[in-house]
Amino acid sequence: MILLKNKQYYYWNEKSVSPWIKYNNEMNYKFENISKILFENISLKKNQSILDIGCGAGQTSYTAKKKVGANGTITAVDISAPLLNLFKKKYKNIKNLACLRKDIQKTRFKENIFDHAISRFGVMFFESPLCAFTNTYQALKKDGSFTFVCWRNFRYNQFFTIPAYSVKKNTKIDLPEFNNAPGPFSLKDQSYIKKLLKQSGFRKITIENIITKLKISKIKTEIDIMMKIGVGASMIREHKIDNNTLDIIKRDISNKLQKLFKNQNHYNAYIYRVTAIK
Ligand SMILES: C[S@@+](CC[C@H](N)C(=O)[O-])C[C@H]1O[C@@H](n2cnc3c(N)ncnc32)[C@H](O)[C@@H]1O
Repeated sequence: MILLKNKQYYYWNEKSVSPWIKYNNEMNYKFENISKILFENISLKKNQSILDIGCGAGQTSYTAKKKVGANGTITAVDISAPLLNLFKKKYKNIKNLACLRKDIQKTRFKENIFDHAISRFGVMFFESPLCAFTNTYQALKKDGSFTFVCWRNFRYNQFFTIPAYSVKKNTKIDLPEFNNAPGPFSLKDQSYIKKLLKQSGFRKITIENIITKLKISKIKTEIDIMMKIGVGASMIREHKIDNNTLDIIKRDISNKLQKLFKNQNHYNAYIYRVTAIK
């Protein structure tokens, strides 16, 4: 097994991944509309063979499995041992739903074996997206589809902006630069996505701007999640912030959420749905 031991590898395998395990149910609930958006554009048929990229604990792999039936097969890949352990625990009795610890950037599957490749937010963390997409392309059958959802601009995504601006205001730590480096917003530029997919060999590339809603849990849970997952959380993780300031940030987030939830019971989310054909 070849795994690149880079910053992403450590993020998804060390203590930093534990909130993704702890809040797996809440995150799946949050992303319910996102999953619907992902699947409504793919014509999954019984007995097909699907690749789920950056599958995490397997929510979309399981959804795909239900659609392809008992004889359909799902191959789900991820670099995170802790998330794959949770995947195995959740879905251990389901046949033809396999999860493998693989870095898609380094994985050459047999050629022409998958009918579709899918990903819910699992394709933004590559140092070499071109390698990842090229490997995906060659593993797909002719006319096979690749469909993924990824975040659009940081600025419009309240789940990210609320905690990140709060950390900035209360610590003077700058927001990170949102460029093409691995991170939730690395695929924010449509032209960059198009270029990568074209260079990987894909045709019929469509990128849809979609505005949707992320579901929310109780305020306390939302604050816990925001302190541990996302842009604000990485600003906290990468700097030494004292407990007193952390409490101030939490109170600030709490005030902002209370105000927001007077008018709406969700976060506005801006995503792309990307489809390409081999
Ligand atoms: C935001 S999570 C999304 C997980 C899952 N798709 C979901 O929606 O719950 C991103 C996932 O991509 C995985 N990942 C990051 N780099 C990867 C790589 N090079 N190859 C395979 N998976 C990768 C991470 O380990 C993580 O599980």
